[in-house]
Amino acid sequence: MHQKNNDILKNYIIITENAIDVVFSSDIAPKTSVSEAMRYSLEAGGKRIRPSLVMEFCRVVSGNYEKSVNAAVAIEMIHTFSLIHDDLPCMDDDDFRRGKPSCHKKFDEAIALLAGDALENLAFRVIISSDYDDNTKSRLISEISDATARMIDGQVKDLSFLERGSLSEDELLEMYSLKTCALIECSAVMGCICGGADESKIVSAREYAHNLGLAFQIRDDILDVIGNEKELGKPIGSDADNNKTTIVSVLGIEKASELAEKYSDIALDKLENFENNDFLKDLTKSLLERYK
Ligand code: IPE
Ligand code: IPE
Ligand code: MG
Ligand code: MG
Ligand code: MG
Repeated sequence: MHQKNNDILKNYIIITENAIDVVFSSDIAPKTSVSEAMRYSLEAGGKRIRPSLVMEFCRVVSGNYEKSVNAAVAIEMIHTFSLIHDDLPCMDDDDFRRGKPSCHKKFDEAIALLAGDALENLAFRVIISSDYDDNTKSRLISEISDATARMIDGQVKDLSFLERGSLSEDELLEMYSLKTCALIECSAVMGCICGGADESKIVSAREYAHNLGLAFQIRDDILDVIGNEKELGKPIGSDADNNKTTIVSVLGIEKASELAEKYSDIALDKLENFENNDFLKDLTKSLLERYK
């Protein structure tokens, strides 16, 4: 990314992490030992792409990201919940996440399960206890609950596909639309809602994020083959070890890369519906070429 945009991204990461601290020192956070496991996974790092999308869409439509910080933290909590559960032995059984032992390795399976549950709940408490007006709260809650439901449906499909012999490209992309695009779309849309955007902007933001999400998951599948565990912060070869059919196992690296590029280009095209889209364009391009 260009230096200027990289600095903006770094700033969004700092804002997200400071806001997480504020939530955990407030009375809405759990007071039991589950809190430690939640913070462990939340604070382990991560690219913070979803909260950055929330804040940037809010800035692009309204000139100011500050109104969207609570929504940004909420989606990072939902995402982290999805990762903690995704790594459990009953799902992908991965022992490493965000460069550290997965939550169930650092703690135990019961605590990891509960930390995920509690993060999902805390995301809603963050919105409910925020100072958004009631209409904004209800729209944000509706977006988060719809997106979380879709993410879970995608994870169910991901697991149910293990019993299937062969899968088509369309079936895989439908599953990616649910497990990955849902939260990314929710991020862009919530940023627009916080910034008071009209319905046509919300439609464009959703279309952008849908295509970005497809490119993002295809790149994730590619990195599971060509990535480096140290850089990626999670195991390589997890999909193959679990006998998962992915877009890479169906199409091969080269064709999968072309497909990721195709969706990334569609996403870039959707950004033409927004002014001041320089950061989003740069972020979109950098995610296509990412190694972590
Ligand atoms: C990982 O998401 C799960 C997928 C949808 C591929 P990220 O790659 O955004 O993970 P973090 O937040 O950076 O750890
Ligand atoms: C993750 O898909 C999607 C989620 C909803 C968590 P993956 O299982 O491919 O994500 P990683 O590779 O473990 O991050
Ligand atoms: Mg998975
Ligand atoms: Mg996984
Ligand atoms: Mg993966």
